[in-house]
Amino acid sequence: MQTYQSILVEDKEGIIHVTINRPKALNALNKSVFDDLENLMNELDPTKVKGIIITGAGERAFVAGADISEFDSLGDNGAKQMSQRGHDIFFMIERFAKPVIAAVNGFALGGGCELAMACHMRIAGANAKFGQPEVNLGIVPGYGGSQRLIQLIGKGKAMELLLTGNMIGAEEAHRLGLANVVVEAGAEVDTAVEYIQRIGKKAPLAIGETIRLVNAYFDMQKEGFSEEVNTFGTLSNTADFKEGAAAFLEKRKADFKGA
Ligand code: COA
Repeated sequence: MQTYQSILVEDKEGIIHVTINRPKALNALNKSVFDDLENLMNELDPTKVKGIIITGAGERAFVAGADISEFDSLGDNGAKQMSQRGHDIFFMIERFAKPVIAAVNGFALGGGCELAMACHMRIAGANAKFGQPEVNLGIVPGYGGSQRLIQLIGKGKAMELLLTGNMIGAEEAHRLGLANVVVEAGAEVDTAVEYIQRIGKKAPLAIGETIRLVNAYFDMQKEGFSEEVNTFGTLSNTADFKEGAAAFLEKRKADFKGA
């Protein structure tokens, strides 16, 4: 695995642990973090890993947003490019064919909330705080937040959080469906590992295709229901589907091969 400047990457028994590592800036996303995340996502082969866990260094923050100190010099075109680049990289995360879980260990604000929302699930530590405070800075979310927040919590609540810029705690985020589960502070990564191990026992092709289908619901270029019909047809021809059905009928555990 290559070396990175602003993230730490460890492969622990096939689970890729990614730590955004700028604790002095509460792990704010600067260009270097994006370079690293892009290289990492290009490098990882979903057929060779069980999943990815993303967390923030230190005990205070997951990610406290885009790095505000880089905004100054951007200009109109630079800002558009930065936003587009963020979108492209977050889509790589969202479309990864193995589970990507955000272990939210503190502030997940702005770009941090957007990064967490691009992941397939969010495990919130009891001290997690979510929000899209861009209106406080006179801007709108730039990394998909105006869209993914609606997808996760519905239009009314998303509108409220986006318009007020308010932060919400872990329990409220859980109640709204933004956090999948709340755990005690410090237990986020271990809980994410448990989820990935549990998901790792399922048929790999079906997992990848489920991620693709759920994303298809929100893809205006695709019609989710017809995508589902086609994928159901394709997967019904796989050895794993035959094995899964046979194992159920024979009352035994399935032995999936990823084919
Ligand atoms: N970009 C750049 N630096 C950031 C940052 C960001 N998004 N968020 C925090 N930091 C830096 C601070 O500038 C500070 O650096 P310093 O020690 O060199 O002064 C350090 O991280 C600690 O933050 P600080 O504000 O002192 O901590 P706090 O406990 O008082 O407040 C927050 C924590 C998260 C509430 C506050 O930092 C904040 O509001 N951050 C910005 C959140 C935001 O608007 N994000 C969206 C950006 S589009």
